[in-house]
Amino acid sequence: MEQTIFSMSERVIVCSVHGKQTERGVFSKWFGCPVCNEDRLAAEEREAFEQAKLDNIKSAGIPSLYDNSSLKSWNITDERQQRILMRAMEYAKTIGDLPAAPNLVLSGTTGTGKTHIAASVLRMAARQSARKRLLSCQYVTGAQIMAEIRASWDVKTRSKHEAEILRHYGNVKVLVIDEIGVSDRINGSQDIWSTIFDMRYREKLPTIITTNLDKAQLQHHLGDRAYDRLMERCVWANCAWQSYRQFCADVEEL
Ligand SMILES: Nc1ncnc2c1ncn2[C@@H]1O[C@H](COP(=O)(O)OP(=O)(O)OP(=O)(O)O)[C@@H](O)[C@H]1O
Ligand SMILES: [Mg+2]
Ligand SMILES: [Zn+2]
Repeated sequence: MEQTIFSMSERVIVCSVHGKQTERGVFSKWFGCPVCNEDRLAAEEREAFEQAKLDNIKSAGIPSLYDNSSLKSWNITDERQQRILMRAMEYAKTIGDLPAAPNLVLSGTTGTGKTHIAASVLRMAARQSARKRLLSCQYVTGAQIMAEIRASWDVKTRSKHEAEILRHYGNVKVLVIDEIGVSDRINGSQDIWSTIFDMRYREKLPTIITTNLDKAQLQHHLGDRAYDRLMERCVWANCAWQSYRQFCADVEEL
């Protein structure tokens, strides 16, 4: 096999930023200051990684209502929120680390900011990387999962097989399941919850859920197998304060 050997030439240049440097070239093409080149490459890599983080956040599917929600934008309206907020902050910061983060349950009445917290934590997770790879993150509601599963039962129209859907939710690195207990009961739904939570449990993948249900109601809704796995390692936050929607409500009564 024929081999072409390129001979590299070198010459000394004075870079306006880095001073005296050895520039390399091949034939009559010179590559410029090596330190400038390295800096440019590093900046391009940083930019590409920032873009990848933004893409990762976008693909997580967080509803646009929560585009500006963050743990920092939270207004403390009740003293019990302080502790939950601090814990959520710590939780989000360490979610990509090992040992794997526990599950996070945000339980409480409507309008108390559960989705706001879940979306904020997920966005922080989507910016993080574990072993140099961004974590795959997804937001979904319980009702969406069940609607997808139900659609998979019609063999003529389905775009995905049930097993494929279960595998997907079982494998996403950080999963938010919003509104468990709202329009998410279908035939065999406890088996579906059991499969998803079991896959996540085996792989030690953290799941963040929000629900209006209390512990007993959640256990009854998910079934013992799913509930048991969810609760083995779990941070349970009781969001038991007034609805923020009503706190800010602007109702014109006539
Ligand atoms: N303490 C807070 N500071 C700032 N914004 C808040 C706070 N609590 C809630 N919000 C905002 O109020 C709205 C309602 O909150 P959110 O949707 O998170 O409630 P929720 O607990 O998920 O209610 P539901 O159970 O009905 O789904 C959102 O726009 C959210 O960003
Ligand atoms: Mg909500
Ligand atoms: Zn230079």
